[in-house]
This record gives sequence, structure tokens and C-alpha cells, in this order.
Amino acid sequence: SHLYQGFLKEPHHEDFPEEWQNKLGQFQRMLIIRCLRPDKIIPMVQEFIIDKLGRPFIEPPPFDLSKAFSDSHCCAPLIFVLSPGADPMAALLKFADDQGYGGSKLSSLSLGQGQGPIAMRMIEKAVKEGSWVVLQNCHLATSWMPTLEKVCEELNPDTTHPDFRLWLTSYPSPNFPVSVLQNGVKMTNEAPKGLRANIIRSYLMDPISDPEFFNSCKKPAEFKKLLYGLCFFHALAQERRKFGPLGWNIPYEFNETDLRISVQQLNMFLNQYEELPYDALRYMTGECNYGGRVTDDWDRRTLRSILNKFYNSEVVMDLEYKFDNSGLYFAPPEGDYQSYIDYTKTLPLNTSPEIFGMNANADITKDQSETQMLFDNILLTQSRATGVGAKSTDEIVNEVAGDILSKLPSNFSIEAAMRRYPTTYTQSMNTVLVQEMGRFNKLLQTIRDSCVNIQKAIKGLVVMSSELEEVVSSILKGRIPGMWMNKSYPSLKPLGSYVNDFLTRLKFLQLWYENGTPPVFWLSGFFFTQAFLTGAQQNYARKYTIPIDLLGFDYEVLEDKEYKNAPEDGVYIRGLFLDGARWDRKTKKLAESYPKILYDTVPVMWLKPCKRSDISQRPSYVAPVYKTSERRGTLSTTGHSTNFVIAMILPSDKPEQHWIGRGVALLCQLNS
Ligand SMILES: *[C@@H]1O[C@H](CO)[C@@H](O)[C@H](O)[C@H]1NC(C)=O
Ligand SMILES: *[C@@H]1O[C@H](CO)[C@@H](O)[C@H](O)[C@H]1NC(C)=O
Ligand SMILES: *[C@@H]1O[C@H](CO)[C@@H](O)[C@H](O)[C@H]1NC(C)=O
Repeated sequence: SHLYQGFLKEPHHEDFPEEWQNKLGQFQRMLIIRCLRPDKIIPMVQEFIIDKLGRPFIEPPPFDLSKAFSDSHCCAPLIFVLSPGADPMAALLKFADDQGYGGSKLSSLSLGQGQGPIAMRMIEKAVKEGSWVVLQNCHLATSWMPTLEKVCEELNPDTTHPDFRLWLTSYPSPNFPVSVLQNGVKMTNEAPKGLRANIIRSYLMDPISDPEFFNSCKKPAEFKKLLYGLCFFHALAQERRKFGPLGWNIPYEFNETDLRISVQQLNMFLNQYEELPYDALRYMTGECNYGGRVTDDWDRRTLRSILNKFYNSEVVMDLEYKFDNSGLYFAPPEGDYQSYIDYTKTLPLNTSPEIFGMNANADITKDQSETQMLFDNILLTQSRATGVGAKSTDEIVNEVAGDILSKLPSNFSIEAAMRRYPTTYTQSMNTVLVQEMGRFNKLLQTIRDSCVNIQKAIKGLVVMSSELEEVVSSILKGRIPGMWMNKSYPSLKPLGSYVNDFLTRLKFLQLWYENGTPPVFWLSGFFFTQAFLTGAQQNYARKYTIPIDLLGFDYEVLEDKEYKNAPEDGVYIRGLFLDGARWDRKTKKLAESYPKILYDTVPVMWLKPCKRSDISQRPSYVAPVYKTSERRGTLSTTGHSTNFVIAMILPSDKPEQHWIGRGVALLCQLNS
């Protein structure tokens, strides 16, 4: 995190030190910036492309149906690649009308279960008559795609009416037939991005754009204010995704349908009730319409918290009410339809993270994740790295495997550990240690076996199976092999850091075995963190004979120093990072992140088991703890999330919404 101290806004435009300014070509400079400031790679790649290929290669071509049409012929389908928020159907229907293909000369079908035969009949008829067929949402008809491929292959200029056209729409999908894509005329119509464009799009959408509906509410002033708030909320919910897990743990596809239903309910509820039914509105919009998609409890808390900003009495009553501290954003006073669009057009084009409730650092996080996505996608296009300088790939892999092997210790001796740390009633941590050793032995063995086998395969002593092939390609890409990941705790680290982290974990358990139970536990080091936390509570439950199911933890963040003795009750832990906020060591409260420092280390914490009913109520923020910055997890067989660990209470003198908006969480490990 110290990398970000005192850094420049546009490092990629700075001179390189001394002779390097002249020595390095544009691509080489990019490689260096890639290492030092990954968040600036996208603008740099764009500049590179402009220089080498030309500006048109970074700008999506304007959406031009007649041009696309003139490129097509009766045997080349026209394909709309869909993106969220963009619906080409209206434009297409209008274009068809203009070309004289309206009415009976155009048949359209939304694909889905069982629609294949209908589509077939439409195509057969249109091929003879020379009319148009539109098949929408091909991505939803995966099982029919091979048939579509066959139909397109069999289109033949001799037997197809020259006026016939096949129009297809689909979200990007691995099931869409490649040959159709290659032969077709492809179009995209990406919706303009950003808060402003998003709100305007909502106002141009049915039913808001319908004057009859817009003016139909019996409480027009209240309706128009809350409607603006709702559209603003919709835009925030969608645009928040660009911040990655800081925005939502899971990137939900909130869409116009959610907004449309909520708008109609707003109108209906205001017409039906005398008093403004805020609770009902919040419930229907937050828990049912938008909330219906939300599968993660912490996202649900975020959704609720954001919605509260827009569905409350202040929006309606308080003329000075603003959506954030900048004062730029508010629900404009009652006016006609156009006045809302006009106001929205005055909003800033580039939205600062503040209106999302985010800290300015969130932009760095966003840029970094865009960079990550770019590189992940580039790697997908590489089947196998070739020609890596002087060494052959075999040599490199052989060396890396050998290096890892040389660092791996032998298995933990479970028997010796059980002798020294026997299962006892009063010390559950003994069981935790032995079980952790068992889990680590399995992973250790997997890593060891695969490295040994790769070396053998390279020598030609065993066959290179497809599993081993995957390990090889992962090593070449510096990724954690899938075979290891299968047996591992979650980690987003590159291969080298992963191995070092793995060795540190082994060392932690080894020292525990040699020197006795440590005074401070490394929380991040556990394979199965929940077992450790339960162990801590179980010790307390047995000591004070309290049923364990009544127990929770209270939390105290301690000083930044070494602790030589364990606490009388509970456990000391270390190893957590704060994401989205900072720990203020003076006030002992959550505080705003320093500019450009994305993560803060958390000092040693004391986890104090106590009856849940006794946990003291004080101003605080409940921070979810995750194993990795990805945050989202899957439910494992033991019923625990593979990523969420526990919720910790951190003192704060700001309202909880403040930190919720910032997506503040604790992480057990960073990505590097
Ligand atoms: C929005 O999503 C729902 C369910 O995921 C889907 O049924 C609906 O067709 C979508 N609406 C649009 C306009 O894409
Ligand atoms: C190490 O432990 C694993 C898992 O218990 C076991 O399968 C493997 O045989 C052990 N390896 C050695 C060398 O003892
Ligand atoms: C991961 O484990 C599953 C089930 O045990 C197996 O089917 C899959 O092939 C494994 N993946 C890799 C990459 O080894």
C-alpha cells in the first residue's frame, strides 16, 4: 500500500529517469508502468493503439443500421451483440418500416424453451417470400443453437430469395455458433455509460416517458420527487458494479424491468394511500423488485442503505435535501417532464466516487480491476505461451517445479502432534491444530505430487495428462494451478506469492507445534477459520459452563505492539486488513482512508467470547470479514461460505450507512 504514497496523477506521461527515457520504446515503457502503476495501463494501451493503429480502433463505431444492412446479403445474418441497457429492437422496427419491411413482411420471435420449431417455420417461409425474420435473445436458446448453425450453413444464394434477411440478437455467449458469428454482420449499440446517461435513459423509457402516466398521480409533487429519487437509485445500483466487490459482492444484473415495476408501484401506492407509505415502498422496491435478485446478505444491507437515501420523507419535505455532500445531486422541485431531463443534463459527466458513498480511492480500485480484466482476457486468447526468450518452456517449468519442491517441508506428523496436543475438554485449540495439520498435509501432498510428476513428464517418464498440462500452463502464466486450488483455501495471489504464503502458513503451524500455543494467532493462516473461532468460544463455554450457542464475540482492537502472553479469556488475532477505511490508532475508531492508500493493516485484535445478549451496544460498524478481496463465495459442503468468515464490530463515530456506502470490509489477505 505504501506504493501509493505521493504518487502522480498521470505517471505514464512522466519522463523516465536518466537514460531510460530514450532507451525504452513505447511498449517497453508500458511493461514498466504495468509493474509500477497497473491502474494506468488502460489509458496507456489506448494511447499505444491510437499511435500504432489509429484512433478509430479505440472508438466504437456509431450505430448505423443502414450501413450494416448494406453490408449484408440474404445468406449473411445480421447480429446484434446486446449489452445491458441497450435494446436495438425499437430502432430495428423503425428501420424495417422505412425499408418497406413493416407489418407482415417482418416476423419476430423471442427465443426460449420450445420456440425452435416456430423459428424454423418462420425462416422457411421468409426464405421463399423474401421477408425478414428477427430472432431475439439467442443466448437463452442454447440447445437450439446447433440447429441455427445448420440453418445458416445451408442458406444458399440459389435457393434463397435475395430480399430475405435474418436478424439475430444475443448477449455474448459461449454457446453462440462461431461460424454464424464469423459470417454475419455484427453490430453493437452500447448504452452510454455513467450516472447521467443512465437517469436520462430511465426518463426516456416507458412508462415514465408516457405523459399520461407521468401526470397521472394524485399526489403529483410527491410522486415526481420520489420518482426522481427512484431513477437515481436505479442508476447508482447499476453503476456501482464498476467498483467490483467494493460496490457489490456479486455483480447483479439489475435491469429496466426492476425499475419499471417499482415505478408503477410508486404511482399506485401514492394513489391508494393517504399517508405516504414509505415502509411499503421500501419493502417492495428494496426487498422484492431489486432485492429479489440479491443473494448475498451483505449486498442486501447495502441495497437497503442506498435506497433509504432516496425513499424517505426528507426527499419530499426538505427543500434543502441533497443526495450527497457535494450538493450537486438532489431531486428537483416539481416541474414538467422535460425539466427533470434538463436538470439531469447539468450533472457532471464524470461522476466522482462520492455520490456512490465511496472514498476517492475507489477510483484506483476500479482502474485496477479493469486492468486485471484486460489481462485476464488477453491470457484467455493464449493457448500456450511460446518462444519465451532463450529458455524453452519445458526448462522454465522444470525449474519452477524444482524450486517449489526444494522449499516444501515434509508432511506434519499427525501422530506426534496428537501426542503433544491431545484432545482435551479444556483446550479445543489442540484439536484445531491437529485438524489444520491434516488439511495442510493434503494440499502439501497435492503440490508435491504435481511438481514431481511434471518433472517426470518433461523427462518423458510419465505421460503428460490433461491435468498436468493445466498445471504447466498455470506455471507459465504465474497462476495457481486448478489442481492445487481444488484442495486449497481461497487465494487470489499470483503463483510466487501463493507459494510463499503457503510456506508461511506451514511455518505458523510448525512453530505452534514446537513452541506451544501462540499468544497471538495468525487468523489468515488457518485453512478452516470457522473451526478456530468455534474453538475459541468452546474453551470459554466449557470454562464458564455456558451453552455455546448463546455465545458471540465482542471485539477490541489493541495497540500496534508485540503481545507475549495470551489473554485470560478469548484469543488475540492478527493478520487482518481494512478495505475502504483506515484504523485510526489515536482515536481507536474507523477513519477515512488516507489518499491513495487502499488497505490498512489492523493491529492485534482481542476476540472476547461473551453472551450475545451481553455484547455492549455502542456506536459501531459491523464489518464483514472475508478471506480474499473477491468477497463473494460459494456455500461449501460444511454450510459455510468459502469466503465470508465472520462479522466484526468496529467502533465508529459515523453512522453505519457511511461505511456501508464505502463497502468497508476486513480482509484476511491481499491479492499480491
Ligand atoms: C430483466 O431481468 C428479468 C429476470 O432476470 C428478465 O425476466 C427480464 O426479461 C429482464 N428485462 C430486460 C428488459 O432485459
Ligand atoms: C502426506 O499426507 C497426505 C495426506 O494425509 C498423504 O496422502 C500422503 O501420503 C503423505 N505423504 C507422505 C510422504 O507421507
Ligand atoms: C477438482 O476436483 C473435482 C472433483 O474432485 C474434479 O472433478 C476436477 O477435475 C478437479 N479439477 C482440477 C483442475 O483438478
